[in-house]
Amino acid sequence: MPTSQIPVITIDGPTASGKGTVAHRVADQLGFHYLDSGALYRLTALSALRRETDLADEHALAKLAEHLHCSFQGGDIILSHENVTDAIRAEEVGNTASKIATFPAVRHALTGLQLSFRKAPGLVADGRDMGSVIFPHAPLKVFLTASVQARAERRYKQLIDKGFSANMQDLLVDLQARDDRDTNRTIAPLAPAEGALVLDTSEMNADQAVEQVLAWYAAVAK
Ligand code: DC
Repeated sequence: MPTSQIPVITIDGPTASGKGTVAHRVADQLGFHYLDSGALYRLTALSALRRETDLADEHALAKLAEHLHCSFQGGDIILSHENVTDAIRAEEVGNTASKIATFPAVRHALTGLQLSFRKAPGLVADGRDMGSVIFPHAPLKVFLTASVQARAERRYKQLIDKGFSANMQDLLVDLQARDDRDTNRTIAPLAPAEGALVLDTSEMNADQAVEQVLAWYAAVAK
């Protein structure tokens, strides 16, 4: 099958909207591949923090992004032979990822890697600009969102479950700041892609969100 005909479902949305869980489960149900594009920005951020790269040096950060030695093995994320699945979820790494993602050269450096995930029988890609920039011709584009309060509660639970410490008030402030940065940057800002279907999951559990996305996909795949 030519690459351009391999179906892609894009699921974009703000941080902690539940898109990772939903995208992963939709991919499982359909037997599709899964791209967690945020993980690529987080891996670049983790590399930069560890190497003490100047976080204002766009060129050096783009070089790091271009030469990431990473692989996705089942649910594990490996960076240069080290399992960093949990390490990239730390708040500091997420905040740094959000900052370096504002640099066009970093985004450009990660484009080819993201496109390479499009393999038969299909792909579910989650991020901020999957539907607007990376896979603009995807047959189904979803914009998954939820209130800041609902997202902060989910992130709090996630962090505690992973053994990190967390404070609700700090999380709310952080989420708001990250939303502002992701939404207001000039390149690939967070916004529903043209033709995206919006799903507000504030009052929904993951099962209901997965069901809705699968129903939408069944309608377009007919
Ligand atoms: O989805 P996440 O929280 O793991 O993403 C971490 C950061 O990476 C997010 O704050 C913005 C950036 N990002 C991006 O700019 N574009 C994407 N497609 C995915 C993530």
